[in-house]
Parts: sequence; C-alpha cells; structure tokens
Amino acid sequence: MTAHRDRYLKRGLRRIHGWLSPYSAQFIRSVTDIQAQAGETGAVAEIGVHHGKLFILLALSARAGETVLAIDVFDDQHLNVDQSGRGDRAVFQRNVQAWAPDADVKIVQKSSLDVAAADILAMCGPVRLASIDGGHTEECVQNDLRLFEATLAPRGVVILDDYFNQSWPGVSSGTAQYLLDPTSRLRPFAISPNKLYLAFDDALAFYRAALRNKDAYYYERSARFMGCDVDVYGTHDHTFAFKRRLIDTVKRTPLGPHLRAIYASMRRQNAR
Ligand SMILES: C[S@@+](CC[C@H](N)C(=O)[O-])C[C@H]1O[C@@H](n2cnc3c(N)ncnc32)[C@H](O)[C@@H]1O
Repeated sequence: MTAHRDRYLKRGLRRIHGWLSPYSAQFIRSVTDIQAQAGETGAVAEIGVHHGKLFILLALSARAGETVLAIDVFDDQHLNVDQSGRGDRAVFQRNVQAWAPDADVKIVQKSSLDVAAADILAMCGPVRLASIDGGHTEECVQNDLRLFEATLAPRGVVILDDYFNQSWPGVSSGTAQYLLDPTSRLRPFAISPNKLYLAFDDALAFYRAALRNKDAYYYERSARFMGCDVDVYGTHDHTFAFKRRLIDTVKRTPLGPHLRAIYASMRRQNAR
C-alpha cells in the first residue's frame, strides 16, 4: 500500500476535512515505516475519526491481515459532550472507500467511554499504532489512554492529538493526570505539530533512535517533559513547507539523483 499512501499524502490529505498538519502526516508515515522495517505487526486504530483525514493514512499503513479500527460517536452527536469535531459516518465511509478501499476496516459507533479493552482485543487483537482524537475532556482523554494502554502491542505507539492546543485544556490536564498516576505505563517520546507520541518504557529508546535517523532533517531539539526525554520535530510547519518545496525542486534537477545517493550513504553510515 506504500504507493497508495504516498498518493494520499500528496493528493488526498488536503481534500479531506479534518485536523492534521502536513508535517505530522509525514512524521506518522515515518513511524509506520519504522514499524514495518522492524517487523511490528498488529491492528491500527483511531478514537475520533471525523471524516477520516488521519484514519486513511493509518489504514494505508496496514498490511495484509491487519485490521483498522474506527471508534466514533458519528451521528450520535449527543454523546460528543464537548463538541470536538463532528463525525459523519456516511462521509467517513465514502472517503475511506475512495482512498483506502482494500483496508479491512471495522467501525464501532459508540462513545469511547462505553468501549472496553476486551472489545478492542476481540475485534482486532493487540494494536501496534493508535490515535486518540475523540472527546477532548479530561475524562475522555484518561479513558482513551487507559484503553490503548490495555490493548497496545509491546512495541506499539499511541499518537495523542491537541496536547499543546490551548483551545482544549482538558487534553493536557487529562494526560498529565494519567502520566502522574503511578499505575500508568505509557510514556511520551516525541512531539510533532499538535501531536504527542507515547509508548511503553522498553520501546522508547528504539523509536527515539530510529526517528532521529529517519527524520533527522526536521529534528529541532530534545527536552525533558513530564519526567521523560522527548524529541521535538518540525513544529514550524511553514519551515517544513519551505524545506519540502526546496527539496522537491532540487530533486527534479539533474543533480537530484547524485544528492540522493550521497544522502542515502550518509544515513547508512549514521545507522552503523
Ligand atoms: C477533532 S475530531 C477528529 C479529527 C480526526 N482525527 C481527523 O483526522 O481529522 C473529533 C472526533 O471525535 C468524535 N468524538 C467526540 N467525542 C467522542 C467520544 N466520546 N467517543 C468517540 N468519539 C468521539 C467526534 O464525533 C469527532 O468525529
């Protein structure tokens, strides 16, 4: 599905209503590539899919035999207590059909507050990549982190939306409450525009090293955050857009293939 995924990133992303910055989309693609190279398997899931903007990218990263799970209240908007987005099942299904028709999609039309970890495991098994972007209240965020904590594969990744968005303070306070609870097991390791990435302790060093290699160009800094070391990437989206355009322009010149070979050889040396 790599070609379909690249086509979606290039042409589809901007056509679907939703919330996902171009650089975070690329960064999530890097996470999925790292998982594929490491042979990680498992389901892919999102709570809060709206019209499918991020969900389709996740669906296009699924390999044969992997289920893609969508949880949203959709047209039961009375369950959307803080009016975060507005799922529409018909629009969502039309978009998924247009861009990821071969994905094995399962849909749960419920509030995530009414979903149990056992339901997720029964439907699709352990999850290797999960996105939380449903209800933005403290209660929903803690619930959703606990749901994926209980269903995540050992080297799975959870992507959390809006932690740094001042319009949705419940996301940061709910996450802080979760992280400060001594029983919680997910820890943050990276930040990209409006997204926070978490994994279990044993996987943190693996993803930090792999991403530092793969997305080196967009790495900005490392910081202590909630008692953990995290790496910050591409938070200046305008910089990303400018760099991307510059790279694409240079790639199309006769020098392009040579520069690409030099860059690939440098990355191989760094990986040693
Ligand atoms: C911000 S939007 C999601 C955006 C989406 N991830 C994207 O890629 O554009 C939030 C979504 O969460 C859904 N939602 C709100 N409360 C929910 C809840 N308690 N359980 C599940 N979904 C919920 C809304 O219907 C809406 O579709």
